[in-house]
Amino acid sequence: MPLKIIRNDITKLTCDAIVNAANPTLLGGGGVDGAIHKAAGKGLLLECMKLGGCKTGQAKITGGHQLPCKYVIHTVGPKWRGGTNGERELLESCYRESLRLALEYDCSSVAFPLISSGVYGYPKDQALKVAVDSITTFLLEHDMLVYIVVFDKASFQIGEKLFADIAAFIDDRYVAMDPIFRQTRRDECDESTVLYSAETVLPDEADQADQAVFPPDFAAEESKAAAPGSPDLKRVSLLSLKDVLNQEEESFSQALLRKIDEKGMTDSQCYKKANVDRKLFSKIRSNINYHPSKTTAIAFAIALELSLDETKDLLQKAGFALSHSNKFDLIIEYFISSGNYNIFEINEALFAFDQELLGV
Ligand code: APR
Repeated sequence: MPLKIIRNDITKLTCDAIVNAANPTLLGGGGVDGAIHKAAGKGLLLECMKLGGCKTGQAKITGGHQLPCKYVIHTVGPKWRGGTNGERELLESCYRESLRLALEYDCSSVAFPLISSGVYGYPKDQALKVAVDSITTFLLEHDMLVYIVVFDKASFQIGEKLFADIAAFIDDRYVAMDPIFRQTRRDECDESTVLYSAETVLPDEADQADQAVFPPDFAAEESKAAAPGSPDLKRVSLLSLKDVLNQEEESFSQALLRKIDEKGMTDSQCYKKANVDRKLFSKIRSNINYHPSKTTAIAFAIALELSLDETKDLLQKAGFALSHSNKFDLIIEYFISSGNYNIFEINEALFAFDQELLGV
């Protein structure tokens, strides 16, 4: 099951358990601790008083009281002291111990704030990395829906360099589509046109637009394929025309299952790497004509570590294309071009740029 990053007030969430970034007394405080105690009411404090406190890196569980969740897991994060006093190990332990308790109490969903990243001063981008690494390690072995809840934009930070690199990548390529131009492109396409992404070479100005091109008929395709250096030449020569025809007719789910086999992956390795839950994967596997969302289709392309062209091919099977007039697509292109297929890092970046996340 997936890890999701959401922006919300954790006290409003109805998941099975929410995690409190507490202090060793467990008797309440400021920040998320204060908000949870305030929303839960006096009963929570009375229950906490019986727990005898909590050590840094450890976790204890109580009822949710007047909160919409069933349980509150209280954990005490490390105070940031420069990073050389075992802070990372203690913070990892907070996530591990909280997830252990969530499992013990049969929680199917749990929500974390960014522990220690507030009053305790842990650098936000590093706190996020520890959270994502710890949670994804747990999710390799267990099925649970885990949220990282970001309270406000200020409390969410990916690495400065990564943010700057992506922003520059977008600036170099982003073309805000002129609505008239877009309309013209659409008018040119015959209504029955099936939008293809691209091996077809586009005239320059159209390169910046949606890579919606005309359905190549094979006669034209073959003549182009004869042109030396044409990308199609490689494709046609490597695959027999029959294979190419079959692959063109393949549905998204057929192409996905073929790629999983070609990569030597198991189904669960693939959907976990795609941050997609088991239920959705079995729908795709059992329905040859399943039509995924664009974010799900791209999540699988990332999990399979496809090249940009292979990604476009797979997207085309689901009726999508990548476009330079879409920041989400450009961020995906950035990560694929840099060979970074860590879907959780990609989701952190998408979240930082206010885009939809990959996977379910
Ligand atoms: N929902 C979700 N996240 C929240 C909320 C909320 N209602 N309120 C605050 N946060 C976020 C903060 O923005 C920060 O990213 O929780 C994260 C953790 O910040 P703190 O609450 O300050 O916790 P921490 O840094 O671990 O410090 C713990 O602060 O409140 C005291 O008693 C607590 O002494 C303990 C210390």
